[in-house]
Amino acid sequence: MPDAYILGIETSCDETGAAVVRSGQQILSNIVASQIATHQPYGGVVPELASREHLRALIPVVRQALAEAGQTYQSVDAIAVTQGPGLAGALLVGISFAKALVFALEKPLIAVNHLEGHIHAVLLEQRQSGDAELHFPVLALVVSGGHTHLYLAQAHDNLWTYRNVGHTRDDAAGEAFDKVAKLLGLGYPGGPIIDRLAPHGDPLAVKFQIAQIKHRDRRDHKQSLAEKDGPQFDFSYSGIKTAVLRYVETENLKPAIEARRLALAGIGKPTVEAVLRLCDRQTLDLVASFQRTMVNDLVVKTLTAAREYDVQTLFVSGGVAANRELRAAFEREAGMQGLPVFFPSRALSTDNAAMIAAAAFPKFLRREFVAMDFSAEAGMVLR
Ligand code: KG4
Ligand code: ZN
Repeated sequence: MPDAYILGIETSCDETGAAVVRSGQQILSNIVASQIATHQPYGGVVPELASREHLRALIPVVRQALAEAGQTYQSVDAIAVTQGPGLAGALLVGISFAKALVFALEKPLIAVNHLEGHIHAVLLEQRQSGDAELHFPVLALVVSGGHTHLYLAQAHDNLWTYRNVGHTRDDAAGEAFDKVAKLLGLGYPGGPIIDRLAPHGDPLAVKFQIAQIKHRDRRDHKQSLAEKDGPQFDFSYSGIKTAVLRYVETENLKPAIEARRLALAGIGKPTVEAVLRLCDRQTLDLVASFQRTMVNDLVVKTLTAAREYDVQTLFVSGGVAANRELRAAFEREAGMQGLPVFFPSRALSTDNAAMIAAAAFPKFLRREFVAMDFSAEAGMVLR
């Protein structure tokens, strides 16, 4: 089979990405233009600003991706673009551009689910390292700013299918990291900052509880058809954010938080050391305890689901999969269960277009192309 060079385009949230990947296994280029600086003053992603930034960044990012890969618009075999889930306006920037390209170039167009992209980020690097053997079923935890989802994945003849066996009932795990960091005046995005601060505090100092969602019984007649053939392993992270807020109030931490917020606003792009100098012991203990609670909950629920569904392989992907403590805990605990666990490298954990081009490759082989009337699906589900 000849090689296929796929140009991937990703604009679902706040990163503008373009990449060229050969046959779902070799990254020739992977360019990401981050919008962090644009959204930082607002402490979260502002959808209108995201669309505007994608419009500004997309063409230079695509040109750079092609140039670094030694490819041209004419030489690539297909264009792949994220269809959803994500911000509707942001998705449309990538989709409109991809449609214009395939119209002009007469190339096939492949629509990719962003969550499937996160899962294929793991596969891409596994293939890249020549470690091709993969045992099914695979359980994939996709844990990011917008999602905390568990999927059972199967593949037959390049057809990948997914069954959702767990999801967050409220906030995603990354959202909880971001909101807690904002609440504590630590800056944005919160995940990477908390990751770096947590080792400086005592993770057992503050006791947090995470809501344990009662899994519906298999024999419960009221359960929906979709849940009929197995239990759900759901997550809930809005409660821990409220618990942190309550701790801040009862311990009277607000004046120190305000002072830190002001100090950091004056620095612009603060280093971890600068943030660390502005944190007292109690704050560092709070941060460490929050992260430990999040990590424990993600690991325990995922490994319980893995045992229940008798899976052979575990994938952990999405922005939060970059977290050091989470990776170490998964490696340790899955290792004790004899379950192989794979993560993307830290660069491929957060949003990027290489994962979109990689997820498109099996669809390319199946000639699963989309017509010009396809559009963005902000709430797209993965099946
Ligand atoms: O996958 P991603 O780039 O975008 C979405 O699809 O949401 O994930 C971004 C999320 C943010 O919430 C960010 O705070 C979190 O991932 N994140 C982390 C780390 N790096 C990014 N959370 C914890 N630890 C990290 N090292
Ligand atoms: Zn993502």
